[in-house]
Parts: sequence; C-alpha cells; structure tokens
Amino acid sequence: MKIIASNFKTNHTRKSASQFIKQVDEFIDKSNIKNDVLIFPSSTSLDCFDIAQNIFIGTQNAYPVSDGSYTGEIGTIHLDEFGIKTILIGHSERRHIIKEPNELIIKKYDFFKARDYKIVYCIGEPLEVKNSGTEAIIEYLFSQLEGIDLSYENLIIAYEPVWAIGTGVVATIDDINEIHSILKQKISAPILYGGSVKVDNIESILKLECVDGVLVGSGSWNVEDFIEMIKIGAKEK
Ligand code: 13P
Repeated sequence: MKIIASNFKTNHTRKSASQFIKQVDEFIDKSNIKNDVLIFPSSTSLDCFDIAQNIFIGTQNAYPVSDGSYTGEIGTIHLDEFGIKTILIGHSERRHIIKEPNELIIKKYDFFKARDYKIVYCIGEPLEVKNSGTEAIIEYLFSQLEGIDLSYENLIIAYEPVWAIGTGVVATIDDINEIHSILKQKISAPILYGGSVKVDNIESILKLECVDGVLVGSGSWNVEDFIEMIKIGAKEK
C-alpha cells in the first residue's frame, strides 16, 4: 500500500485548500481507497476537516513548543485546535533556503516524537554530493539521520534529492532504486521518494518495491492530478 503525499509549500489559499481536501475526500470515499494519503497545506489553511481516516492533514512546520514568544511560529496549541498530529520535518527548503539548523531539526523531531506525531522526516543530497558518487550520497544522507530515532513507529522518511526538487529533473529509476535499496537495509520505516514526481512518471517510481510512496510538490497542486496519483498508488501493492 503506497503512501501518496502532497506538500502544498507556499501555495493554495485557505479556500482552495479546503476545496482540494474535500474533493480528495469525496474521491477516496467513492473509490474505497485504503492507502494513506497525506496533505500538507500552509499553516493558515489548517482546519478541522471531516475526512476519511486514511487522509492525514499535516503541518509543513511548527516550533517545538506548546505556546510562547516565538514570533511567526506556531506551537502545539495551534495544531491541537484542529487535531493535527502529522508534521513535516527537515524539508530541504527549510534546511537550505530558510537555513534551519540541524540542531533545531533534531529538537523538533524529539519534541514531536514525544507527542506521538506522525513525522515525515526529509533527507536529500545537494548536486555536488550527488556528483561525488553513491558512497558520498549515502554518507551524506546518514549524516542527516544522526540523532534521529529511526525505530520510532510513527516515522516516515522522505528521500528528496535537493537537485530534483522543483527543477523538473527527476532522479532516474536506477538512482532511486539504488539509494532506496541501500537506505532500506538500515531503516525499517517507510521511505517515500520526492523530487519532480508527476502524473506521467509516478507509476514507474511506485513500481519499485523499495519505494513505499511519494511526497509530491508542484505535480500535486492540481487536485485532478493528485487524485490521478492516488489512483495509480492504489493499484500498487
Ligand atoms: P517538487 O515535486 O515540486 O519537485 O517538490 C518536491 C518536494 O519538495 C516535496 O516535498
């Protein structure tokens, strides 16, 4: 059962996000889809949604506090208000663009793990590391996992090569197969692939046994496309 996840990043308004979620829910209900579907809208679009149990609405970010003086951040009181128990941690855009330090990422991981959140923890190498070969990639990815409890039962890993995110450059099937297979030897948590996944390449990616699902950005923002991806995911074991 493949996991299909959509990361809205800085897209969709509160209104369009709620319409999107409603449409996905109606489809899942009508088609009796049992796969887990995760949707990460912007913080301002979080709400209580009346949706199927296999749809998880998550936050793209939160500060590791209940509440307090952290201007611009949200804490668990804001997530609790909407029953949100799913979070994305370590996304490359936060690591590289926002310069979120590794210590904070680890702190968030421990904090949300202690509160039983479903954590989608992202790892991925930049282009210069990719160009140094498989050994360098694996070393880099495991350095991003240092300090992370890999045995946490609500953990999902997302392997998102930085050079494939938002670039239209998808990793080759061989690349994905190689990296996921190596990660799988040490990690029992499900591992998603992310980076330029689209309706027309998702099937070949999901066919890989070592890929447990996908985390999709731009290719998922159109609801019809995302529903198509869920359909394709439901066909795979
Ligand atoms: P794209 O699908 O737009 O490349 O983004 C991937 C991603 O960052 C999902 O978290």
